[in-house]
Amino acid sequence: MTLQLSALQASLQGAPVLHAVDLDVKPGQVLALLGRNGAGKTTTLRTIMGLTQQTGGHVRLDGRDLGGAPTWQRARIGIYFVPEDGGVFQELSVLENLRLAGRGQPEQVLGAFPELKALWHRRAALLSGGERKILALARAALSGSRWLLIDEPSLGLAPAVLRRLGQAIAALRAEAGVLLVEQNLRFAQSVADDYVLMQRGSTVDQGPIEALRESPFFAQAMSFGSGEGDSA
Ligand SMILES: Nc1ncnc2c1ncn2[C@@H]1O[C@H](COP(=O)(O)OP(=O)(O)OP(=O)(O)O)[C@@H](O)[C@H]1O
Ligand SMILES: [Mg+2]
Repeated sequence: MTLQLSALQASLQGAPVLHAVDLDVKPGQVLALLGRNGAGKTTTLRTIMGLTQQTGGHVRLDGRDLGGAPTWQRARIGIYFVPEDGGVFQELSVLENLRLAGRGQPEQVLGAFPELKALWHRRAALLSGGERKILALARAALSGSRWLLIDEPSLGLAPAVLRRLGQAIAALRAEAGVLLVEQNLRFAQSVADDYVLMQRGSTVDQGPIEALRESPFFAQAMSFGSGEGDSA
């Protein structure tokens, strides 16, 4: 069982953005997808989800090519995307957001996300940034999806909240393979098993997360040192 990208290419409004993305995610694995601003991390997640135009290569699930499958079909076969803002329904309560997440009863998430109990009837718009991220991950858990694509969950959160977020992601991996886009290196190192480095629309290196700093592509891909930019 693997979610496998090979030689994946994608375009945004006709402009090629992904050139050659190769990676494998396995159940129970947290794979950190790392790279500087504009490297193509979000586009990779959106292409897996069928939200961006794939122009070449393959997305395979358990060996089966998803071809041009629409987003709803990808969701139905167990792929779930948590966008940077969490993707929750701002006007709905925590409970309503959980009810809409899918298969299980909302109460099921209280074991792994007990802090939601006190927020049950609060509108998502009124949650703090950290609470909203927890709600987004609880929705992902409740969806029963086998593959979770999570875009920069750490963004804008204080260190104490990050610790909690790390635990929440650890809870998710019990049931799923996680592809985690991160810019916060320390956070990525605390939750991921392995890394993939991206640079200008292509994956350039991968390995166990402990070996990240030894990668010959590390400084360049993470934009330390060079100062030369490819972002807007
Ligand atoms: N509509 C568009 N047309 C052409 N290029 C675009 C369009 N939208 C985004 N891009 C470019 O695609 C590239 C990849 O963007 P993407 O959002 O995937 O990067 P990212 O790695 O997620 O960056 P960040 O860390 O800043 O979120 C960027 O260079 C961006 O400028
Ligand atoms: Mg992004």
